[in-house]
Amino acid sequence: MARARVLHVPLGGFQKIAVLRLSSLGDVVLTLPVVHALARAYPGAKLTYWVKEEFAEHATQEQEHADRIAERIVQLGGEPDLNPDTLTSRSHAEYVEGSSLVEMLREDLIAERIAIDSYREIAEWLHGKDPTTKRLMEEILAVEEEHADDINSLLAGMKD
Ligand SMILES: [Fe+2]
Repeated sequence: MARARVLHVPLGGFQKIAVLRLSSLGDVVLTLPVVHALARAYPGAKLTYWVKEEFAEHATQEQEHADRIAERIVQLGGEPDLNPDTLTSRSHAEYVEGSSLVEMLREDLIAERIAIDSYREIAEWLHGKDPTTKRLMEEILAVEEEHADDINSLLAGMKD
């Protein structure tokens, strides 16, 4: 086990904080409360969280989904609504902050399952109407199913 080391807080607090957690997805998730606590304790500091590529993959893929859908909306002559202020009111999944790691992961899993249902319904609705958008929805659906599997596997290895 690593020994804890006392750090002296410089006058004015820390300006830059780096958290390095390159191990498994579970360890990365376990480190999140520390990262949030550091962000709250030092709101003026630049906080960098280095994680294993595998864990960052989910976040990157979600951004890619948003980019691909926005691109398709433009191709169809529409204008994607990218306003972050109204994002939560337009979301299919409700944001619920869990009070424990297991609760947070369960909420994540619920959100992934809602996304899966939504993409499946959209793809079914597009059948015979727009094969290109239907294919896009099915590709995103497949990735969301992988996300749910990843979180499910993580939860299976944890205790309440
Ligand atoms: Fe996802």
